[in-house]
Amino acid sequence: MTKEPATRPLTARRGAALRGTATVPGDKSISHRALILGSLCAGETRIQGLLEAEDVLHTARAMRALGADLLRDDDSQWRVWGRGVGGLAEPDEVLDFGNSGTGSRLAMGAVATTAMTVVFSGDESLRRRPMKRVLEPLTLFGAQYSAREGGLMPVTLTGASRPVAIEHEIAVASAQVKSALLLAALNAPGRTRLVQRALTRNHTEKMLGAFGAQISVEALADGGEAIELTGEAELRPISISVPRDPSSAAFPLVAALIVPGSEVALPGVLLNPRRIGLVETLKEMGADIAIANARDSGGERVGDLSVRASSLKGVEVPPDRAPAMIDEYPILAVAAAFAEGRTVMRGLEELRVKESDRLSAIAQGLRANGVTVEERDDGVVVEGRGADGVPGGGTVATHMDHRIAMAFLTMGMAARAAVTVDDTTMIATSFPGFEDLMRGLGAGIG
Ligand code: S3P
Repeated sequence: MTKEPATRPLTARRGAALRGTATVPGDKSISHRALILGSLCAGETRIQGLLEAEDVLHTARAMRALGADLLRDDDSQWRVWGRGVGGLAEPDEVLDFGNSGTGSRLAMGAVATTAMTVVFSGDESLRRRPMKRVLEPLTLFGAQYSAREGGLMPVTLTGASRPVAIEHEIAVASAQVKSALLLAALNAPGRTRLVQRALTRNHTEKMLGAFGAQISVEALADGGEAIELTGEAELRPISISVPRDPSSAAFPLVAALIVPGSEVALPGVLLNPRRIGLVETLKEMGADIAIANARDSGGERVGDLSVRASSLKGVEVPPDRAPAMIDEYPILAVAAAFAEGRTVMRGLEELRVKESDRLSAIAQGLRANGVTVEERDDGVVVEGRGADGVPGGGTVATHMDHRIAMAFLTMGMAARAAVTVDDTTMIATSFPGFEDLMRGLGAGIG
């Protein structure tokens, strides 16, 4: 099982303007899906630009344990030889997903309609996260599970030997739950219909279409969506080029906004409308962010961003934008600390069950650095201190959360006194080159 590594603290301090090009790694959501769908398809899937971070590497190992062949070329292209829908094999070991909610929940879906028993576990943070949201609806297909009290990992899941298609309304605003159910539906005879009220990221739907599944998406009058997928699908292999991750780009982007005089380019970033709520919000705050060369790449929108240091003002973030920026609230809270006026973030109960309780981690981190913040049940209110007004000088507890670590290191790059985060080991789960990339732009991290 995952051995918790030694902690590694790090300090960021204010320095000269940030300049240059920030080439961030591949999108984490798309990388997980490419490996899993490649493993469910007979033939060879090729993946360029896969995110080679701990979360995704755990998914790769799990897919190997389930019988797929995965290989990385010298030119860092990945090749996956899948087993076909319904062809995964029972592993003789516990599947360890490390820190990754996405990898583990999607893999639960992928095995739920194949007759085999699989044990899922992960690190201390993942073993605290709720799994019933996925496991309960998977029982509708005929799967069975047992878990620790509260639906916690380790989880034992036995896939249905005679799966049935389902009609189901998804209770949580979660792309992970939606994706798990779609992956399960692939091997259930008949047509599965899922209704979701919140428009969460749609990479699974897009990629399933590209692999040749019969999938349709209907917009509903109330703003939601109905997704229908025909089971016993035959997926055909494709070549995938993974766009760069907007959730990783968020850190150099906000750093460039808050360090005076900065100018940074971010090429080839995924611009799927369901992922770029942060850019929209920062623009409303007065950020100078330009998008050029918007283009389609393998069914997803990508483009080149350029960012200049800007005077920001506080805003009310519309709660219905949460799904499009769900992972970006920690870094938005940092941007809000450098804004004039107050920023209100609401509708964020889901942040309590991410890699850490992010509402509490954000509030603790801001307070430790002299920023006034009100923590509410479903959000935070940040009292901005203006461009040069964030005291800093604090040490932030990261609670095994990569995004908390990166957000507060970013804060240290513009605060009056240096900011320390107590542990940066988790950054490797999503953005292994973070420190080098930031140093390359001129940031003082060390
Ligand atoms: C993800 C969905 C989101 C997000 C996570 C990645 C995905 O989680 O927070 O980092 O790839 O589907 P939820 O589905 O729990 O909202």
